[in-house]
Amino acid sequence: MRAVLALTALLCISGAAAQANAPLIQGESGGWRQGRATFYGGPERFLQNFADRGPPPEYGFGNAIFGSCGYTQQNYTEGVTYANVPYPKEALAALANIDEDFPGSCGRCYEVRCKNGLVLSNGTSIFNTTQGYNLPAHAPNATDDYNRTWLGNPTEALQEQSVLCWNTSSIFVVITDNCPCIQTNVTTGEVNGVNPPCCGDVYHMDLSYWGFQQLAHPLNGIMMTEFRPVSCDTHEPLQFNPGFINSTIYGDKVETGWAWFPYKQNTDNFWLPGAGIGGSNATCVELGPKAGGLTLASRQAQKAGYQPFGKASAVQFWLKDKNGSSTIPDLSVSVGDYDDKKYCSAVKISSLTPVQKQGTYAQFSIPITSFQCPFPATQITQIGFQNSDGQLVSFCLDEIVLVGGGNGSGKVSSSSVP
Ligand SMILES: *[C@@H]1O[C@H](CO)[C@@H](O)[C@H](O)[C@H]1NC(C)=O
Ligand SMILES: *[C@@H]1O[C@H](CO)[C@@H](O)[C@H](O)[C@H]1NC(C)=O
Ligand SMILES: *[C@@H]1O[C@H](CO)[C@@H](O)[C@H](O)[C@H]1NC(C)=O
Ligand SMILES: *[C@@H]1O[C@H](CO)[C@@H](O)[C@H](O)[C@H]1NC(C)=O
Ligand SMILES: *[C@@H]1O[C@H](CO)[C@@H](O)[C@H](O)[C@H]1NC(C)=O
Ligand SMILES: *[C@@H]1O[C@H](CO)[C@@H](O)[C@H](O)[C@H]1NC(C)=O
Ligand SMILES: *[C@@H]1O[C@H](CO)[C@@H](O)[C@H](O)[C@H]1NC(C)=O
Ligand SMILES: *[C@@H]1O[C@H](CO)[C@@H](O)[C@H](O)[C@H]1NC(C)=O
Ligand SMILES: *[C@@H]1O[C@H](CO)[C@@H](O)[C@H](O)[C@H]1NC(C)=O
Ligand SMILES: *[C@@H]1O[C@H](CO)[C@@H](O)[C@H](O)[C@H]1NC(C)=O
Ligand SMILES: *[C@@H]1O[C@H](CO)[C@@H](O)[C@H](O)[C@H]1NC(C)=O
Repeated sequence: MRAVLALTALLCISGAAAQANAPLIQGESGGWRQGRATFYGGPERFLQNFADRGPPPEYGFGNAIFGSCGYTQQNYTEGVTYANVPYPKEALAALANIDEDFPGSCGRCYEVRCKNGLVLSNGTSIFNTTQGYNLPAHAPNATDDYNRTWLGNPTEALQEQSVLCWNTSSIFVVITDNCPCIQTNVTTGEVNGVNPPCCGDVYHMDLSYWGFQQLAHPLNGIMMTEFRPVSCDTHEPLQFNPGFINSTIYGDKVETGWAWFPYKQNTDNFWLPGAGIGGSNATCVELGPKAGGLTLASRQAQKAGYQPFGKASAVQFWLKDKNGSSTIPDLSVSVGDYDDKKYCSAVKISSLTPVQKQGTYAQFSIPITSFQCPFPATQITQIGFQNSDGQLVSFCLDEIVLVGGGNGSGKVSSSSVP
């Protein structure tokens, strides 16, 4: 787990020089907050310096190609690389499950900059350089991808971890994964690891190697940061806690707050250009011999202040057959509580009358009450589109919106933005 793509830098490494001088305002929406970051993934050239840490090609550093938010576009006849992840690899990040704004964090964007100086451990003590695996002790001259050597640790003699940042420019990252304190095998529930930095009372984010190296040399391994949640589209600051969840689940991409889980398919598209209503992006799933479907979920969003379905009267979406037929695929649409695995009744597309049609697309609107949930709507955190009858229909979905579920802005009022 934890890792992603390579080429362009759409979301990240935009030096926000003007904002770098904004004051750190603890607890204020729009202000910079104190955090901490480690990294995961990285080029084998760098990672192989730490061969005693784990087996190649990851050497115990993991990768960001498959994140727990599911954002990996796949053609199941081909292997998967960072090119299958819809975001640039330097923009990928995992949020610690213990962070205050963890609920609904899939797809949320943050602006992050490095903070010079001592690094805090779990709690308020200083991170001890003998704590965990010390990268510089193994390869002090290892270079980053720009051939830069480590600037050293000014407090090394004291066994205290401190970091010299390259500068105070910020990067923009998108959450595609999570960092649990205790790692368990999803199948067996067996404990197979602990991530101490993700356990504690310091806000923590795992950046990809490629994002981390924009801020400080990767040999540091861990650094203090300043961060704030921002709109992925405009980079304007958003509210911090509760974190923002978009009431549009799918616009031209899977929107902030939502994990994307296609299953048992041949291929799937996070954002297929031109496949959407009016030529926009759509999410499409081409089913394999075992059928399957697509689930969009907002993890831990039953928490007060989140609850994306809480006020919604209906869910609306556009649906078409991916193969171009004008017959609308007869999917089963269902909602449920993702974390507790509790589900409501499914509604068949064939039982509905479209609100409107455009080309081969039809728009539907399903009142939340139609799902006859045995629990309050505040506990609904997922919607699934499933091909239930075993028929092989591939489909595209667009503009999945929770009607009345919020305003989709999440902006903080301008007076609280420093
Ligand atoms: C999946 O990859 C195979 C092998 O490259 C290719 O032949 C096939 O067309 C691809 N399928 C889709 C739907 O892109
Ligand atoms: C760091 O940890 C080592 C080993 O546990 C310990 O001997 C040392 O006193 C610690 N240093 C500081 C500054 O806490
Ligand atoms: C790192 O580089 C320094 C300066 O060139 C050199 O003295 C040292 O031996 C090198 N260390 C390692 C482990 O290669
Ligand atoms: C790093 O150094 C190597 C060897 O000198 C060189 O081939 C490469 O182009 C350099 N890379 C960058 C990004 O400067
Ligand atoms: C989880 O456990 C299963 C069954 O023992 C095993 O096959 C699988 O490899 C484990 N997964 C991980 C990621 O350790
Ligand atoms: C880190 O600190 C938190 C809060 O004080 C505590 O609950 C947790 O057990 C600590 N974790 C570790 C690994 O020490
Ligand atoms: C800060 O460092 C990063 C990474 O080295 C670099 O890309 C960026 O241009 C630098 N920003 C400034 C303002 O020098
Ligand atoms: C929420 O989604 C809408 C529709 O796609 C988009 O226009 C808007 O920018 C999103 N809001 C945020 C804060 O991401
Ligand atoms: C539409 O999808 C493409 C990739 O296929 C992506 O580059 C682009 O940003 C998406 N458009 C929006 C508005 O999200
Ligand atoms: C959709 O079209 C492709 C290519 O023509 C075909 O291989 C596939 O079986 C079709 N899928 C369905 C579900 O009809
Ligand atoms: C959207 O919600 C935010 C946060 O509650 C609020 O500040 C903002 O004024 C609302 N915007 C609109 C257009 O209603």
